Amino acid sequence: MPTHDDVDAFLTDTLVGDDPVLDAVLQTQHDGGLPSIEVAPVNAKFLHLLTRIAGARRVLEVGTLGGYSSIWFARAVGAGGRVITIEAEPANAEIARANLDRAGVSDRVEVRVGRGADVLPTLEGEEPFDLVFIDADKESNTVYLDWAARLGRPGTVVVLDNVVRGGEAADAATTDPKVRGARAGLVMLGQDPRFDATALQTLDRKGWDGVAVAIVVDPVAGSGA
Ligand code: DHB
Ligand code: MG
Repeated sequence: MPTHDDVDAFLTDTLVGDDPVLDAVLQTQHDGGLPSIEVAPVNAKFLHLLTRIAGARRVLEVGTLGGYSSIWFARAVGAGGRVITIEAEPANAEIARANLDRAGVSDRVEVRVGRGADVLPTLEGEEPFDLVFIDADKESNTVYLDWAARLGRPGTVVVLDNVVRGGEAADAATTDPKVRGARAGLVMLGQDPRFDATALQTLDRKGWDGVAVAIVVDPVAGSGA
């Protein structure tokens, strides 16, 4: 009986394919001592397709790590697009910038170094983002979701990573701060009138987790759902 890892390998081979640039990116992350918590290739391709389906030209990412997902977004927005990605750890940002160069997309990706809560307010007044991907410290999910709504517009797509965490998200009594952050993010997406959302469980090479996908709605006009 094939395992979920076998299925992940099959789906990755069949639908994502091999990319020497991205292999090199993952190698630099490994060499730089970064944790292997970048999105799985099938998930990266999902984000890439979602960006293209939304016709997004401006993408905001919170949590750059080594730039793996940033490259997928950069390829999705195309040469005229823009990706702003926020990274709290300067050493990670340095690795990410080198990787964006390696992938030939530095012209359209800006890495801003700092904590999300400090950098996000500096983006106010810019053109709204078409898609926001939140994949940083889980404890701050609700802060980042609030900024996603403020920096977006009705129709903006918001994606929140790691909302299931091996199933722990269903444990209301959890004391794990990351799980509490995941739960808080989901509760906010369910209750905040600025969002209409769902979440899907995922099982890929990183194990059992999940991703929430939301659209920013006009709280007065509603979603029409
Ligand atoms: C963790 C963070 C992530 O963004 C992820 O995709 C998986 C794990 C973590 O901090 O544990
Ligand atoms: Mg993640």
